[in-house]
Amino acid sequence: MQWGMANRLAQLIQSDGHVLILPVDHGYFQGPTRRLEEPRKTIEPLLPYADGLFITRGVLRSCVDANNSVPVVLRVSGGTSMVGKDLANEGITTSMEEAIRLNVSAVGLSVFVGTDYEKESLLNLSKLVNEGERYGIPVMAVTAVGKELEKRDARYLALCCRIAAELGARVVKTYWCEDFEKVVTGCPVPVIMAGGPRVDTEREVFDFVYDGMQKGAIGVNLGRNVWQNDFPVAMIRALRAIIHEGATPVEAEEVYKSGQKEG
Ligand code: 5RP
Repeated sequence: MQWGMANRLAQLIQSDGHVLILPVDHGYFQGPTRRLEEPRKTIEPLLPYADGLFITRGVLRSCVDANNSVPVVLRVSGGTSMVGKDLANEGITTSMEEAIRLNVSAVGLSVFVGTDYEKESLLNLSKLVNEGERYGIPVMAVTAVGKELEKRDARYLALCCRIAAELGARVVKTYWCEDFEKVVTGCPVPVIMAGGPRVDTEREVFDFVYDGMQKGAIGVNLGRNVWQNDFPVAMIRALRAIIHEGATPVEAEEVYKSGQKEG
């Protein structure tokens, strides 16, 4: 691997081989998502606990100070919205030149396997990988399901992750699912877990993150279940305990509860 590529990946993936990325990119198709209405207010208290920030260029430039030292994964796909015809019909929104100007550690885009726009999104990934390899910028592929959350099973996600890795993604972000080991085993590059819509209890989040880590994921890219929680700092600290300290879900709950007391 080229030095620049290796160095950028090392900025994100910590010396223990694990990573906690905080995604705040949801507005690129959802608009002002609940508790991300004013991104700066959501992001600032959480930044000290994140190994990376998944974000669009617009929110990066307007809501994150340039002296911030948290590595950036730049969301570079989009062009669709919740109220439009098809979320899968994404294009590449941001040039590699811009990614370099913004001094990012990686770029990320969604692929929509099994949709009418499967080919376009996979060719978007291939094009981005070609450019990323030229400049030493890793590409994170996101296996997106749009509104069809029921698609999240091991067979489908393993298919998506493997295709993304075959096309050259350096890292793949996908959903946790039952039999998650099948997803990780079939994917020759590191797998990071997304969170999905907020679940009912903190414990459910700790359980799936712990299970995914045990089954070979290198970390999370988890947004709504952090910043839509009433105690987002307590939540991210508890997740850090699982990801970087090997805490069990019970131990993570303890971290969360003590964070709650601190407010
Ligand atoms: C939105 C994304 C998000 O980064 C991803 O879904 C993770 O966030 P969450 O945990 O809220 O699902 O790709 O398009």
